[in-house]
Amino acid sequence: MKFFIETFGCQMNDRDSLIMTQILEQAGYSCGTSIMEADIIVINTCSIRGKAEQKAYSLIGSLRKHKLANPNIIIIVTGCVAQQEGRAMVSRMQHVDMVLGPQSIYGLIDHIEKVKETGESLILTDQSKRFEIPPFLPDLHHSTPHKRFVTIMQGCNNYCTYCIVPFTRGREVSRKPADIIAEVKHLIDLGVKEVTLLGQNVNSYGLDQPDESRTSFPELLREVSKVAGLIRLRFTTSNPKDLSNDLMSCFAELDNLCLHFHLPMQSGSDIVLERMNRKYTVADYLLLVKGLRAVAPDISITTDIIVGFPNETDADFMGTMALMEEVRYDSAFSFIYSNRPPALSCDFADEVSKEEKSRRLALFQKRQKEITVEQHQRFVGREFDLMIEGESKMGNGQWSGRSTHNIIVNFYSETVYQPGDMVRVRVTEGLMNSLRAELV
Ligand code: 5AD
Ligand code: SF4
Repeated sequence: MKFFIETFGCQMNDRDSLIMTQILEQAGYSCGTSIMEADIIVINTCSIRGKAEQKAYSLIGSLRKHKLANPNIIIIVTGCVAQQEGRAMVSRMQHVDMVLGPQSIYGLIDHIEKVKETGESLILTDQSKRFEIPPFLPDLHHSTPHKRFVTIMQGCNNYCTYCIVPFTRGREVSRKPADIIAEVKHLIDLGVKEVTLLGQNVNSYGLDQPDESRTSFPELLREVSKVAGLIRLRFTTSNPKDLSNDLMSCFAELDNLCLHFHLPMQSGSDIVLERMNRKYTVADYLLLVKGLRAVAPDISITTDIIVGFPNETDADFMGTMALMEEVRYDSAFSFIYSNRPPALSCDFADEVSKEEKSRRLALFQKRQKEITVEQHQRFVGREFDLMIEGESKMGNGQWSGRSTHNIIVNFYSETVYQPGDMVRVRVTEGLMNSLRAELV
């Protein structure tokens, strides 16, 4: 019996797909190479913006005929659209056999058996019960062997008004520090060199645990950093409202903590930030940037921004442009606001036209590209340790690695490297998406 998993969305979904892969393989299923040859099809969906949700629906819809021709295949929808839609998914897409929210993937095999036995569709999206993330010790053969994500928490309690995540991923649940350390040690034993700790808001790690047994995120970071053999440590994502001085000081203290901070600003207007329920101001945000650069002058700062939030004025948008100018991000993900019911902002009045929103996005992206190149050029002449990713996509004897800042660096070498090897290079050129360098 073969399975195939199609994954949309963020690293949380990648991680859930990896867990499901392992669960299915341990039960004797093997991973197929195409969706059409699989007996078990899993579509792991994302709903962060309207487009992501449409992509998932169009793939699910396209499987209708396939299911009619092959009634024995089992079609499973997981991820954020599954959680959000629940039973409605099956009413709309009657060929779907199973709808599993992110907390229900762990019992996948039992659920498959049940559907086989009863022939009825199964919907498991209840998130009201107390939930603990089960321990997980991954095998290695499915993804890049030298670096891995390790979930430290799931869910979000913040309710930013534009965001679907608190509705799809539920309340914050932190994993036990011992489970996290055990997973990191296990990965290192398997040859992993770099670990990224993953959570929707890592700064609130541990806050769902009782006071006496609580480990804070900086404490966890220090523990993970000590695991022997861990060459690089990263984390994502941090909400600026809870970024502590203790976390900042980790960048000066921990040798293997990489010099990159993803700090989503979302908007450079205090009025919009307030309507987004972000709980920080532009001035607070700039203080954080200053603090980070004081402990680690070379740190790379990247961000997420939304343009066209309901009734964002031209002045609000110019605030975003000004903040970008002041921080000088190494790169930024930028999005046009998308209505995501039941997120609160769906009911906000919005007089701004689609064209105006697109214009703002284009303006932001154009200027950010220029800043990215300028930022990359600041590295020219500097020496870096790179972790090898593999042969460069550009071919002809070039290799690709990542700097501590998470920037791709390409260089020529006749040596054959393995992903995860470290080399020292001198940067010769700063480009839009990468740096060029020569071996030292
Ligand atoms: N519309 C547009 N962008 C959004 N994001 C989250 N929700 C929305 C939305 N409704 C963006 C934010 C977040 C990133 C992961 O996606 O910038 O940080
Ligand atoms: Fe990830 Fe959010 Fe998309 Fe869910 S909605 S898959 S948590 S990005």
